[in-house]
Amino acid sequence: MGTRLRSAPVRSIHIGMLGLGNVGQGVLRILAENGAAIQDRIAAEPVIGRVLVRDLAKARELEVDPALLTLDPDDILEDPDVRVVVELIGGIEPARTYVLRALEAGKHVVTANKALLAERGEELFAAAAARGLSIYFEGSVAGGIPVLRALREGLASDRIDRVIGIVNGTSNYILDAMSRTGASYEQALAAAQAAGFAEADPTLDVEGGDAAHKLALLTLVCVGVRVDPDQIHTDGITRVRPFDIRMAAELGYVIKSLAIGEFGDGRPRLRVHPTFVPRDHILAGVHGSYNAVEVSSRALGQSMYYGKGAGMMPTGVAVVSDIIEVCRDIVGFSEGGPPPGAFREVRALEPAPLDELECENYLCVHVPNVPGVLGKVASCLGRHGVSIKRMNQDTPGAGEPIDMVILTERTAEAKVRAALAELDTFDLSLMPSHRFRILESEAPAQAVDGGPR
Ligand SMILES: NC(=O)c1ccc[n+]([C@@H]2O[C@H](COP(=O)([O-])OP(=O)(O)OC[C@H]3O[C@@H](n4cnc5c(N)ncnc54)[C@H](OP(=O)(O)O)[C@@H]3O)[C@@H](O)[C@H]2O)c1
Repeated sequence: MGTRLRSAPVRSIHIGMLGLGNVGQGVLRILAENGAAIQDRIAAEPVIGRVLVRDLAKARELEVDPALLTLDPDDILEDPDVRVVVELIGGIEPARTYVLRALEAGKHVVTANKALLAERGEELFAAAAARGLSIYFEGSVAGGIPVLRALREGLASDRIDRVIGIVNGTSNYILDAMSRTGASYEQALAAAQAAGFAEADPTLDVEGGDAAHKLALLTLVCVGVRVDPDQIHTDGITRVRPFDIRMAAELGYVIKSLAIGEFGDGRPRLRVHPTFVPRDHILAGVHGSYNAVEVSSRALGQSMYYGKGAGMMPTGVAVVSDIIEVCRDIVGFSEGGPPPGAFREVRALEPAPLDELECENYLCVHVPNVPGVLGKVASCLGRHGVSIKRMNQDTPGAGEPIDMVILTERTAEAKVRAALAELDTFDLSLMPSHRFRILESEAPAQAVDGGPR
């Protein structure tokens, strides 16, 4: 049997938790199941003293000691023994007020609330910095995948050029179901809601707002730039039709909703939209409610972070790992270092306009089956400098409209938008065109520095 050489005394660190929903219950379960190992790792015992809820009598999956629960936030926010407040209520208010009060009272904060940090991060991080306190938020992006930690620590020595993420499990679940079963958007959404993968009101997920919040936080952690999530270009998945999914498959693509951040020296270029992803791209294989983030950095090249993006236990893991990190700071007397968000100094910038973004595009134009229509569409595109790479059209019956599918060459965004605007006011156009951007195939891996040995 091994001998313990040195045994550090275990210090109790009092934690107050706001919210005992999905994630909150995951946190309690993980602390109960892995408590001994956690103590061994950090020579500290995180002790959850009180948990704020809205309804004391609510039936919960986890059996909890009723004495743990409270309806009064002051039981946590005004308890001088509480060193860390874990916010798992969600939404902006009252979460924002409680987090500010916790910071004002000198308590560190852990949260999984991307909406709160993306929308109100400026005041919260400033309040934390002013008092030398930390706000950790691993659970807020890609749930259980430790991607923020990888960016902040594992890649701290590298320079990040780009992130491409599937960061909204609901959108991925719906698009995946449409691809696998041929279902319509509405049918796939209903199935996702029945399976618990979509909210009754799915707007924030399917219109890209949730992914924009996460992209804003990824931008903060990657390059120390704060952006307003409302300024991120966002297209939802609601306009994706079974026809587009089928055409994508025929052309060698899968449609995925991607959050893309490109970081040069100036303003970051940020966007969330359904994208044609080449079938052999690693992100094409991310199915169901899984999340993945592909990072391109100068020295490492491409790296990929993949796993469950939500759920009680996956998100609970991220939150408890943040609790452990704060406890480490407390026992190691290293509180008050640079903020875990990103950098000592954070710049606020507007995202760059997308006008100069160049990519290939899938266009689907809806026109009547009359002579000369093809030429009219082609010459409209040509006038705007959009070159056609490939054209497909279903052969409709006599008198039926045509869904004309066009793949463009790499073209600047402004030109494609101008061409689409003209096409949609065309006397021949039957309904607004469908357009999706195409992700480039990954370059084959190149041998660098002599390659593998
Ligand atoms: N669910 C996930 O998989 C996931 C993944 C990543 C991030 N997140 C984030 O984690 C956070 C929590 O999500 P969740 O799914 O656990 O939410 P949830 O299941 O809706 O739980 C929310 C909890 O907060 C309590 N609460 C809500 N409003 C309150 C108020 N005004 N005063 C006191 N307590 C209040 C609720 O109390 P009652 O129980 O009494 O109603 C409930 O316990 C959110 O920010 C979410 O975006 C969640």
